[in-house]
Amino acid sequence: MKRRDFIKRSSLSALTAWMGSSLVLNACHTEEDMIGESNWIVEGSFDRPLTIPYVSNGSASLNAQFSVSELLKGKSSTTLSYANGLLGPTIRANTGETVNVSLQNSLSEETNIHWHGLILPENMDGHPRDVASPGGSLNYSLPVIQRAGTYWYHPHPHGLTAKQVFLGLAGMFIINDAEESALNLPSGEFEIPVIIQDKHFEGNNLEYSPNDDEIMTGYLGEQILVNGQHAPFVNVASRWYRLRVLNGSTARVYNLGLTGGANLIVIGSDGGLLRTPETVSNIMLGPGERLDVLIDFSDLAVGKEIYLVSNKFSEFNVQGRQAFSLLKFKVDREGTSDFTLPSTLSNISALSESLSVKTRTIDIAQTIGGEGGHGGMGRHSINGKIFEMDRVDETVSAGTTEIWEFDNLAGDEIHPMHIHGVQFQVLERMGARNKVIASEKGWKDTILLMPGEKVRVIMTFPNYTGVFVFHCHNLEHEDDGMMLNYKII
Ligand code: C2O
Ligand code: CU
Repeated sequence: MKRRDFIKRSSLSALTAWMGSSLVLNACHTEEDMIGESNWIVEGSFDRPLTIPYVSNGSASLNAQFSVSELLKGKSSTTLSYANGLLGPTIRANTGETVNVSLQNSLSEETNIHWHGLILPENMDGHPRDVASPGGSLNYSLPVIQRAGTYWYHPHPHGLTAKQVFLGLAGMFIINDAEESALNLPSGEFEIPVIIQDKHFEGNNLEYSPNDDEIMTGYLGEQILVNGQHAPFVNVASRWYRLRVLNGSTARVYNLGLTGGANLIVIGSDGGLLRTPETVSNIMLGPGERLDVLIDFSDLAVGKEIYLVSNKFSEFNVQGRQAFSLLKFKVDREGTSDFTLPSTLSNISALSESLSVKTRTIDIAQTIGGEGGHGGMGRHSINGKIFEMDRVDETVSAGTTEIWEFDNLAGDEIHPMHIHGVQFQVLERMGARNKVIASEKGWKDTILLMPGEKVRVIMTFPNYTGVFVFHCHNLEHEDDGMMLNYKII
């Protein structure tokens, strides 16, 4: 169907109905979902050129709206978008600038924007109470006071976050600074944003309809999209490239690698560059996390193809039992570059544990409510509590340093934990994987906890006082109430 025909046939109210019906529990899921045998990834043919979201420098005007996009090759899908198609522009800014963003809400329900990873004043952070009604608007003025890095933005209205992100509302927010520019990293066409999201379709359209079990495990789709496209490829020259990878999925964890045993050189994660490059063959990336990697295609002959893949990481879990490809790189020309991998990337001083004025234990292993919850399994909670908009759960002092211990030792689900308004360092992971992985050696705002793990993080709270949230970035868990308020005083 052509876009014009689509618009003719779809009144706004029909779109509204589609959006509403995406919330209705669907009955067509089989017994197999219960034991996680479904959700097997469907790979495509990797013959569509990768789309790169357009760049908005320094400011942006976003319109959360219904749109149409070719997510699956040759098929039109109704989506949500901040512009056209799926997703929004990549907003770029330099440290020290102020970014102004206007948000028009053309949806039939409330929305807002959280600037994930950015350290912002309370009223700019996108707390779920600060929303625009349908037809309303919001203006964000974002002072960029932090270091270079790959951040992102997405809606945060309570109970609607997962659906709105899943249907297409998200974008990258890239900060540059002098320290990073001095490294002369691959840039321009050699710097590729890679936004990874899994989607579930009914026919040609996105279907967001988690049943009780999927609220527990997270809603997993069978088609993996990169920048809003299923199974794309990108032509590359035989030289160094930089990939800025965002896991924008609601719940799926990836174990990223390259085919043919090629290595990924991890240079950064959520909060910018690491101290030194880390060479890995596999790296886990949970929902909300970012990965900054370099790939050296220099030794590959023209004509060679390699894939960005997700490798198996579990025999047992509903996720991770299957390896699949996400994106194909096709070497189509010789490359030249004078880039050499620096041995030092950035200056990060370790926050000493002795600075900490308080250690808090954050219990994320329990569900509460038992029978009253999903399929008798209870609702997701933090410290035994479910989110309440106006209740302050933890109070911290501006400018002080604390250690928070996320405890999933007794848990049997995966929880990527995110704290608004701050960047932290990872001190230690106990239990299951029992180590801090390469991408966790820099600044982070989201930390992945597999079942049976406990992670200790340390952070200094900024001088922005007010109420911020922290929550699980499995967005089904977040919407289920796995979120608390903390107040900086
Ligand atoms: Cu990206 Cu409160 O989340
Ligand atoms: Cu969770």
